[in-house]
Amino acid sequence: MSSLNVTAIVLAGGQGKRMHSDLPKVLHRAAGRTLLSHVVHSIKAAGIPKVRVVVGYRGDEVKKSISDVEFYLQEKQLGTADAVRSADVNSLEGTVLICNGDMPLVSDRDIRTLLEFFNSRKCDLVVAGAIVKNPKGLGRLVHSGETLHKIVEERDASPSELKICAINVGTYVVSVESLKKFLPMISNKNRQNEFYLTDLVDLMMKNEKVVKTCLDLPARASRGVNDQFELARVRKNVFLKKAKALCLEGVVIEDPWNTYIDVDCEIGKGTTIGPGVVIKGKTTIGENCSIEGHCQITNAVIADQVHIKWGTIIEDSRVGANARVGPYARLRPESNVAEECHIGNFVELKKATLHKGVKANHLAYLGDVEVGERTNIGCGAITVNYAVDKKKYKTTIGKDVFIGSDSQLVAPITVGDNAVVGSGSTITKDVPEKALAVARARQFVKENYNKG
Ligand code: UD1
Ligand code: CA
Repeated sequence: MSSLNVTAIVLAGGQGKRMHSDLPKVLHRAAGRTLLSHVVHSIKAAGIPKVRVVVGYRGDEVKKSISDVEFYLQEKQLGTADAVRSADVNSLEGTVLICNGDMPLVSDRDIRTLLEFFNSRKCDLVVAGAIVKNPKGLGRLVHSGETLHKIVEERDASPSELKICAINVGTYVVSVESLKKFLPMISNKNRQNEFYLTDLVDLMMKNEKVVKTCLDLPARASRGVNDQFELARVRKNVFLKKAKALCLEGVVIEDPWNTYIDVDCEIGKGTTIGPGVVIKGKTTIGENCSIEGHCQITNAVIADQVHIKWGTIIEDSRVGANARVGPYARLRPESNVAEECHIGNFVELKKATLHKGVKANHLAYLGDVEVGERTNIGCGAITVNYAVDKKKYKTTIGKDVFIGSDSQLVAPITVGDNAVVGSGSTITKDVPEKALAVARARQFVKENYNKG
């Protein structure tokens, strides 16, 4: 295969009307990547670095979404053959891989299979095919064995052609000479008045070229995205594939069919993932952690042996080794929880740096704060970080501090090392180290008050 000089062309110019969305179809997402990015990843993983992407509908947005490819503009969406034409075919050499941009389940292995097939059979054109139960909406392959005679689009098909279950996946390998020669000969005389790339087959057959279909691809590869339901189905498939890959590396996923881990996340072996867990973006989770059910973790770095309990939400934050978080805790962006911290139920952190061994076990709000080692934050304690001037202020708490329950620390404020804040205090002045600060009304007791 290394003898082939391959350039890929990805067709991503269409609007995707059936999506009923303002977003171009190829920018819809499945498991953290756009559909287009899935296709380009598979191409590159198959060993093809040169990728030309044809953009059209809202092309600027499509361009911004991906790097390390070349873009070509298709002015008007006149069909798939016209899209290929827009990719400056005359400047190409060697062999061309053409991929529809809405087929995210075509894998790098599928692409390699196709290239090998092209090479070994000395083809001029190979069309990836699949045998499916329900071919509705797809181009049908009129073939006898590997030999392909033509492709008929559903709208142009006769009743007997509609019964064919061999379908065109939308991935092709073709020699540049044939593409240069036959692409300009394609017409738009069909039901949709579009230039169909699939008409290459008929044209090349009539000119005695070697045109074949490779039916070795799994039916999965033929699942494209044309509407929101197909997108949901594809997404489910991508999540399952990711979960399976992690399971095979030693991650314990209790219910892989109901776990949603984006493709670019990494999880270490021995870690257990409970049901309904969502792990998004570029999250990294270490080894031997336990992530209980229904947690949502986005762009986080979680070290080894961390226990994240049920229903916890973590975003753009870090959690150190052996920490415990949750159930129902919320780590908002820029929280940095060091090793061995305990963050309990209904605790909210935002821009909070907690050093080693800090405990905040129940119902606290810690925002714009730094807390020293081993400090204990009592139940219901609050950093009052937002002032009437609409600015945020910082709280600094030293190490080995005891913040009593239901206290408020009105920022900007500093509490020194080893200080104690009495329960129920509203602290508005700095507390020096080792001091006790109590800021609440003294208890008043009237004896024999209730005579009734
Ligand atoms: C196409 C094939 C069909 C195949 C199916 C597989 C043709 C004529 N038909 O049909 O045989 O079974 O894919 O999914 O090719 N695009 C452009 N510019 C255009 C039109 C389309 O860039 O002018 C891009 C789209 O963005 C999309 C891809 O080409 O990524 C395929 O276009 P689409 O309209 O979805 O083709 P299908 O009708 O699905
Ligand atoms: Ca399609």
